[in-house]
Amino acid sequence: MKLGVCYYPEHWPEEMWTSDAARMKALGLTTVRIGEFAWSRIEPEPGHYDWGWLDRAVKTLSDAGLEIIMGTPTATPPKWLINAHPDILPCDEYGRPRNFGSRRHYSFSSKTYRRESARIVEAMASRYGANPAIVMWQTDNEYGCHDTVVSNDADAQAAFRDWLSEKYQSVEALNKAWGTVFWSQEYRSFDEIDPPVATVTEPTPAHVMDWRRFSSDQVASYNAMQVEIIRRHAPGIDITHNFMGHFTEFDHFPVGEQIDISTWDSYPLGFLEQAWWDEDTKLKYCQTGHPDFAGFHHDLYRAMSKGRFGVMEQQPGPVNWARYNPAPKDGMVTLWTLEAVAHGAELVSYFRWRQAPFAQEQMHAGLNRPDHAADQASFEAEAALDILQSIGDLPETEQADVALVYDYEAHWAHEIQPQGKSFRHDELTLMFYTALREYGLDVDIVSPDQAIEGYKLVVVPSSPMLTDERVARWQRSGAHLLCGPRTGSKTVDFQIPKNLAPGALQNVLPIKINRAESLRPGVSRHDGNGSLSRWQEHVSVKPAIDLEVSGVVYGNEDATYISAWVDARYLSQIMRGVVDRCGIDGLALPDGLRIRRRGALLFLFGYCDGAETALPETALNQYKHIVLDLHTIPSRLAVYRKI
Ligand code: GAL
Repeated sequence: MKLGVCYYPEHWPEEMWTSDAARMKALGLTTVRIGEFAWSRIEPEPGHYDWGWLDRAVKTLSDAGLEIIMGTPTATPPKWLINAHPDILPCDEYGRPRNFGSRRHYSFSSKTYRRESARIVEAMASRYGANPAIVMWQTDNEYGCHDTVVSNDADAQAAFRDWLSEKYQSVEALNKAWGTVFWSQEYRSFDEIDPPVATVTEPTPAHVMDWRRFSSDQVASYNAMQVEIIRRHAPGIDITHNFMGHFTEFDHFPVGEQIDISTWDSYPLGFLEQAWWDEDTKLKYCQTGHPDFAGFHHDLYRAMSKGRFGVMEQQPGPVNWARYNPAPKDGMVTLWTLEAVAHGAELVSYFRWRQAPFAQEQMHAGLNRPDHAADQASFEAEAALDILQSIGDLPETEQADVALVYDYEAHWAHEIQPQGKSFRHDELTLMFYTALREYGLDVDIVSPDQAIEGYKLVVVPSSPMLTDERVARWQRSGAHLLCGPRTGSKTVDFQIPKNLAPGALQNVLPIKINRAESLRPGVSRHDGNGSLSRWQEHVSVKPAIDLEVSGVVYGNEDATYISAWVDARYLSQIMRGVVDRCGIDGLALPDGLRIRRRGALLFLFGYCDGAETALPETALNQYKHIVLDLHTIPSRLAVYRKI
């Protein structure tokens, strides 16, 4: 387990580097990430590389005993490159370029940009690939940030047609799959097909689905290009990419498989402010973050690269990009750090070393203030290190009893055809996660396509495009299957299944959805057990079949289906029933408390005042409290070890 920091030597006079490096080391940091936005300094003129400064920065940091994570600078192509090749720029839905002047101004499909990216990555990797100071490479920075997965540029249009022709082989097959006979949209050849953007009204949903699948594939193939080059020059060295939180525009699993360790950028307060929660929830957690947001993403990214994950950017104080940017409560940066550790992280790296007094992020805190004095997060990083020392060796993370299926395509399907404005897949998924975590359970997140074994319960919040193969695979694992509304409601071609929803789920649970309705805000119904809103399905069951029906919940030995958007309290009640029935030991936690086990260790995280002391003593019978040196920072954290 290492703590690190993100550093931009190009932002500071060279005379400062040595003391910066010494102070990082003195603080106890191990890694330093550099390079990811430095293209204009690495190649100030076309073809003219200036390695001198970067060589010296690498040497200074490594001489101080720091390990370097080197980022490729492709998130920020320089102005001269854009001027020479404007076809690099990403385009909006009308095909208008989005301009130079910030970052991520490239299209994943631009052939020119793929060539230029390969060139700069090759140049960097050949220069530093064998340098022992570089312990990890990061490809690019936050793929897709600022709405950049999808681009309607000429190269993307052409590549989309190729992608479609490869997928469908014949245009007749495509017409059938998409249902283009509807509204006279039939195509005579693949050449006739444009991206489904800027249309008069709703485009064909299957067309949009394929456009999103294609755009997602472009991210993965772009990343694969960088990975191949880095591996050639730096064999055996870890490669990562820093994914984002609350980001669903591309399927992260294929990218995660290409790299060695998935990292993500954790900004709990910024995310809380930007996400869907109501005002009361935002107020309640505005200085701590939502109790499940970081945990959910740790579990998500732990699922990507065979269990290896970390936090590449950890929020250190107020950020600059949310609607409102409060300071974390004292102790929260320490808590977030330890929470990542509890979920199995190998690395937590703070963003950034020093607050920049210039440019876009001047209001974003760092470990140090712009006047170089240590800021609050420095003390909290120190506290985290002391706590880690008191804990000692960190045991391996064990497999949980519960797997939660995270399905990017499901998210796109619900965005493409929401049917009710408030049916939000990300919100629903987190509600299911919360219902498990409030019951004291550890959760493993899994991809819908992976083989699973050893789970007692598999939770599918809502996966419309269920296939027979998926259901059979989950079934074979022996786990009970708990599915939320709209699961199995579409075929992979975005059509209603012949046997109606829940489609392939009927192989294990013989129910049929006859009608689905969305409910406007203000409409709340009660099914005798609890309340529901937003969405309700009307279900028929075959007579004489052994089925347990309780309000909107249908179940048998193998599976349970919730046929509505049930409110949080009701969901928690249903979840606890299913968990108990699966023979999993749950533990009802007080408000705002979360626990997480890592081998013999048990971590307690209080997201509300006083929560950390509120666990019933009986729950801790088999544990011994580890006394932590918490400095002067009030903490909401406790750690126990199994006796
Ligand atoms: C991340 C990004 C960083 C920095 C940070 C600010 O999204 O990777 O470069 O902009 O946000 O919070």
